[in-house]
Amino acid sequence: MNKTKNKKLIVGNWKMNPNTLEECKKIIKMYRRESRRVNNIDIVACPPLPFIPACISRTDKSISLGAQTLSQYESGAHTGEVSASIVKEIGCEYVILGHSEQRTSGETNSMVSKKIQMALSAGLTPIVCVGESVRDEAGNYMNTLRDQIKSSFADLSKKDAKVIVIAYEPVWAIGAKEAMSPAIVYEMLLFIKKVFADLFGPELALKLKILYGGSVNFRNAADIVSIGQVDGLLVGRESINMSGFGDLLKVVDMLG
Ligand code: PGA
Repeated sequence: MNKTKNKKLIVGNWKMNPNTLEECKKIIKMYRRESRRVNNIDIVACPPLPFIPACISRTDKSISLGAQTLSQYESGAHTGEVSASIVKEIGCEYVILGHSEQRTSGETNSMVSKKIQMALSAGLTPIVCVGESVRDEAGNYMNTLRDQIKSSFADLSKKDAKVIVIAYEPVWAIGAKEAMSPAIVYEMLLFIKKVFADLFGPELALKLKILYGGSVNFRNAADIVSIGQVDGLLVGRESINMSGFGDLLKVVDMLG
């Protein structure tokens, strides 16, 4: 893929869908077709891991592939787990880490931090999800967010911090009816940059790529990107919607 700095990054998180390889091939074909219609977007597909090899094309590099998680361990006796090197070996370039659905099944900030290190040593780009579960009047959700960022990136060098992508996903907006309002997305983006600047300095914070995720669809994507000022989107349901995803790419592409 010919990546340029200013392109938007759109990541499709397929979660545990679809159930068949045949369906998977149809979706990835749609991704390749749609990728040829846009100029200003880098597309990353994150299908279920066993389907990744079937999604790789030796000739068509228009889309990248990503995993939805990986193990905090390097190798060894960890039944059912998949290491960063295996993820890289089968052809992934990205990995989603700290997704709220993983956090619900027990992933902690310290595990996310270990997984980030594993991903980086394997040469993968970590897309690290952060986001509050509720928005309380007292603003405690900001502390949650600050804690997630500070503890996940605590052991990171400045060199590694340059590679990180943050996906801001307010948990209450995932799988919901409506996304966060674009104006609030922008406020949260500034807050995340501030916390990142406290850790790594303003220069890296300015360069940090921040995606928004949570009920993004083809109708709200353009506003979230233009008003929210994010560098891209982490898309769940709409990423496997055969017509919706193409439309989403089109409206974001038109923003230039
Ligand atoms: P959604 O999921 O777009 O279906 O809300 C987003 C996510 O969980 O990454």
